[in-house]
Amino acid sequence: MVKLKMGIIGVGGIAQSRHIPAYLKFLEKVELVAVQDVNLVRAKEAAKTFNISRVYTDYRELFQAVDAVTICTPNKFHAEISIAALEAGVHVFCEKPMAITAAECVSMLAASRKANKILSIAYHYRFMEASIVAKKAMQDIGEPLVTRVQALRRRKVPGWGVFTNKEMQGGGSLIDWGCHFLDLSLWLLDGPQPVEVMGTVYNRLSKTPNQLNDWGFIDYEAFNVDDHVSAYIKFENSSSMLFECSWAANIKDDSTHVSISGTKSGLSVFPFEIYQPKYGKMMTTEAMMEEDPKQVGILQATNFVESCLGEAELISKPEEALKVTKLMEAIYESSEVGSSIKFS
Ligand SMILES: NC(=O)c1ccc[n+]([C@@H]2O[C@H](COP(=O)([O-])OP(=O)(O)OC[C@H]3O[C@@H](n4cnc5c(N)ncnc54)[C@H](O)[C@@H]3O)[C@@H](O)[C@H]2O)c1
Repeated sequence: MVKLKMGIIGVGGIAQSRHIPAYLKFLEKVELVAVQDVNLVRAKEAAKTFNISRVYTDYRELFQAVDAVTICTPNKFHAEISIAALEAGVHVFCEKPMAITAAECVSMLAASRKANKILSIAYHYRFMEASIVAKKAMQDIGEPLVTRVQALRRRKVPGWGVFTNKEMQGGGSLIDWGCHFLDLSLWLLDGPQPVEVMGTVYNRLSKTPNQLNDWGFIDYEAFNVDDHVSAYIKFENSSSMLFECSWAANIKDDSTHVSISGTKSGLSVFPFEIYQPKYGKMMTTEAMMEEDPKQVGILQATNFVESCLGEAELISKPEEALKVTKLMEAIYESSEVGSSIKFS
């Protein structure tokens, strides 16, 4: 059987905790052949730990040795490296968000089409068991009316890496975490076209000296990204979304909530439940399932590898990831200009 030769670019936290272990679970279809990182010591250590034979300092040289790459660098480099890989004839699986700006995403998409190579973005929430069941259940909800998203952390600003560096990441809680929930809900809704977005972005808590934080040190003076965001989005099909995400907020506890109310029934994803009138009463139906976090990474990796080998249809498509980045850009812009942003 033909195996996909895979290279990993950027071998930090997510590469070592999710992507490499996932590929190692199905070695019959994928072979990890090379790594590259601007931090050569880390690249060599990762290669040794995971028994990967080649280490490169220049990602362009790595392209010669692989059929596909998984890009796990800070957001700033997603577009540049993806485009270079696609131009070299290499399939790309890029960490989320697709890129910092919609213009970069458009260039990535064009490069993928021109090269006729796969480009996919690691929006892994789609591969959770609850999300997969919710996607199937969407056929029963009728027309979607209101979507509610709350991706809330009480005091979890990432105090490591470059997560609070605007130049490297493009933003904070929204572009880092909220993006997953915009992607998941748009996917469940079959990608409705947004017509108007109103967003408000805060960072008051993280700009306060001696702020409590469960995830390490925050330099309040240098902090220049969002830690709490709210938005209201109207779609062409007259459905709407109430969106909120945070890294830091004065709330009771962390919570992850995605629910959609339709004309026939409603559903909630975490945990998965269905709400509908039946037998003259409102019913709540729960699903019996136990999420395995490792399985999510494996399903995601399997879909990418099998799509590259022509054996599966790609689940996380670049056109959809571009829509997520457009929405995030509109939320940030709306907050900056103080009025809603209309999509033409
Ligand atoms: N899907 C998820 O839930 C999830 C979770 C965490 C991180 N991420 C994403 O993964 C990416 C990396 O995050 P991380 O937590 O692994 O960060 P990290 O800081 O742990 O690792 C990033 C690695 O990239 C390397 N690097 C930096 N610039 C580079 C360049 N130009 N070329 C090659 N290597 C470079 C760094 O040296 C480092 O080893 C980010 O885009 C982040 O948004 C996604």
